[in-house]
Amino acid sequence: MPTVSMNVNGKAVTGEVESRTLLVQFLRDTLRLTGTHVGCDTSQCGACCVTIDGNSVKSCTMLAVQAEGAEVTTIEGLADGDLHPMQEAFRDNHGLQCGFCTPGMVISAIDLVAKNPKPSEADIREWLEGNICRCTGYHNIVKAVKAGAAAMGS
Ligand code: FES
Ligand code: FES
Repeated sequence: MPTVSMNVNGKAVTGEVESRTLLVQFLRDTLRLTGTHVGCDTSQCGACCVTIDGNSVKSCTMLAVQAEGAEVTTIEGLADGDLHPMQEAFRDNHGLQCGFCTPGMVISAIDLVAKNPKPSEADIREWLEGNICRCTGYHNIVKAVKAGAAAMGS
C-alpha cells in the first residue's frame, strides 16, 4: 500500500493508504479528525472542505496521495486556545443550527476572507454556492461571515 505524508494542523503525519483512498477518508478514518464531514461524497455539499496549501478544497474530490507533502488545515486546526474569529462569529450570529455544514462553511469563509478581506453580501453568497446548509440557515450564515471578516481584519 502507498504511504502518504503531509502536515495536518501543524503536525507531520504519515499513513498507509490505498491508492483510491480519498483525502476525507484519510482525515476521518486514519487520523480520526471527524470534524470534517461527509454530506454527499459527490462534491456537491462542501461539508468536507479543508484547506490545502492555503486554498479551501472539497476533500471528497481528492485522493489522499494527491495531498502528499501538503499543508492541510481542518476545522480542528483553527482554534488556538480560543475559537477562531470566524468560529466566534458563527456562534454569535446563530450561523449554525444542526452544525453539520458548519466546519465546511467556516473553512470556506476563512479562505474567502483571505482572498477578499471585505466581502459584500453578494460576494459571500457567490463564494458559498458550493456549500449547502440542509437547515437552510443561509441568512445568518451570511451575517456570520460578514462579522467574521470584520473580526479577522481588526
Ligand atoms: Fe464532499 Fe459533499 S462530502 S462535497
Ligand atoms: Fe444544519 Fe447547516 S446548520 S446543515
